Amino acid sequence: MNVFVTRIIPDIGLEILRDNFNVSINPEDRPIARSKLIDLASDSDGILCLLTDRIDGEIMDLIPDLKGIANYAVGFDNIDIDDATRRGIPVSNTPGVLTDATAELAIALIFAAARRIVEADVFMRGGTWSGWGPMQFLGADIAGATLGVIGMGKIGYAVAKRAKGLGMRIVYFDTQRNEDAEKEFSAEMMTIPELLSSADFVTLHIPLFEKTRHLIGKAELEMMKPTAFLINTSRGPVVDEAALAKALKEKKIAGAGLDVYEFEPKVTKELLALKNVVLLPHIGSATTVTRGKMAVMAAENLVSMLKGGDIPNLVNPDYIKYKK
Ligand code: DGY
Repeated sequence: MNVFVTRIIPDIGLEILRDNFNVSINPEDRPIARSKLIDLASDSDGILCLLTDRIDGEIMDLIPDLKGIANYAVGFDNIDIDDATRRGIPVSNTPGVLTDATAELAIALIFAAARRIVEADVFMRGGTWSGWGPMQFLGADIAGATLGVIGMGKIGYAVAKRAKGLGMRIVYFDTQRNEDAEKEFSAEMMTIPELLSSADFVTLHIPLFEKTRHLIGKAELEMMKPTAFLINTSRGPVVDEAALAKALKEKKIAGAGLDVYEFEPKVTKELLALKNVVLLPHIGSATTVTRGKMAVMAAENLVSMLKGGDIPNLVNPDYIKYKK
């Protein structure tokens, strides 16, 4: 069977695929163009794709033998799941293995934004530092501050755990109560408006669905304290980026730390000029070990899809109803 991988991933995953299939890989280390994907994957039985690949019904129809799609990410908003399900095609993701890495990056963004780490580093490199000063680079306290976690799933929980260790008070919003978080971190469940108006740091850990698109827009930013920070390591379109840039520029909130963007890889131009936002290039899961684990998981998912057996991280169990 033929498998197409849309971009080079760690060898440890490619080896699993090569042991089982004929493997072709997009040779270029950049997101593959849609036309090229269609061309290179046309005779594939399975594809291993990335969050930068939009996989919809049109693509699925142009790959007539397609029997499985393994996404190299926990988020799968890049794939039209309904289209895959209706065509009897299973889709998988990579949950769990990137929880700690992503939570660590959210914490890193809290520190970077609150303590102005990037701004201070850029200043040092300018070579004009004249020595210690009592009023230099004053930032915000983390210990004793309130962290508002929107989405108390695996990653939100891992962030809350770390934040508790830093002496933060935890409040959260989720569609379901998380009794573990309440017990372990004395986390208090709130509505989104309550959370936004009481948190010093708001951190987003929700998937992108139509319902969560622009969950944080002008009205929500206005509910935040002028001293508060917004941290986003989930998906860019959860935040209205133009509204955020305006709120940051007008100091309606104190700052932000972003790893994801509404129109990746484009970044709203106004953000680039602002000092009170830390910008990272979607590196939440970017540790060597984590990316290796994601590669193994995605490859193993694809092996089960094409060779039979339970698919470990299946996201659309209903595909079976339509399987030919
Ligand atoms: C994911 O897996 O969804 C992450 O965004 C990739 O880093």
